[in-house]
Amino acid sequence: MLKVVVLVSGGGTNLQAVIDGVEEGSISNTEIVGVISNNKNAYALQRAKNHGIEAQCISPKDFADRGKFNEKLLEAVDGYAPDLIVLAGFLVVIPPAMTKRYRNRMINIHPSLIPSFCGTGYYGLKVHEAALARGVKVVGATVHFVDEGTDTGPIILQKAVEVQPGDTPEALQRRVMEQAEWKILPRAIDLIANGRVSVKGGRTVISGE
Ligand code: GRF
Repeated sequence: MLKVVVLVSGGGTNLQAVIDGVEEGSISNTEIVGVISNNKNAYALQRAKNHGIEAQCISPKDFADRGKFNEKLLEAVDGYAPDLIVLAGFLVVIPPAMTKRYRNRMINIHPSLIPSFCGTGYYGLKVHEAALARGVKVVGATVHFVDEGTDTGPIILQKAVEVQPGDTPEALQRRVMEQAEWKILPRAIDLIANGRVSVKGGRTVISGE
């Protein structure tokens, strides 16, 4: 059974997709053992509680410095002894010690087709605003392992979504979430839970495809 901890900062629609996948069985062999947010007002915390999943807030604002926060966050995650950490809209920089300890056991969902529109400053609506400003015809989402960089780890799954005429950033964001994020994040977890994802030479290999 893959024990999963999910880190969130916002509305939690990706968390909800994972919860639903586990409950309906499309994500097999998996248990969400905890949800942690840096934002006490994150509705994602309520979503977890609605499904009986332990949820807590660990906010940088409650610590004298970032180092103390980093220690507390890693201690809280370690406390669940997770096999996998899922960053589902988590907007806090991951402590280097966590990236090291959970190498190839921590994944992130990013709302673009990496390497486009990613890296520092590209998050949430900003990603879709940049895509519309550039005039791309295809966008999408990426699930990748987390390494020391920002959105730079080995790519696991990607799914493309067409830009529609007249799209606003909000409409595009919603379509990418519905048609891509909420599909590939649960699928990636199910693949990992069933031992089908490995990393070789900095790229992933998915068995049984
Ligand atoms: C999503 O757009 C995700 O791609 C990005 O942050 C947003 C999180 O949304 N990383 P939610 O909290 O899962 O609704």
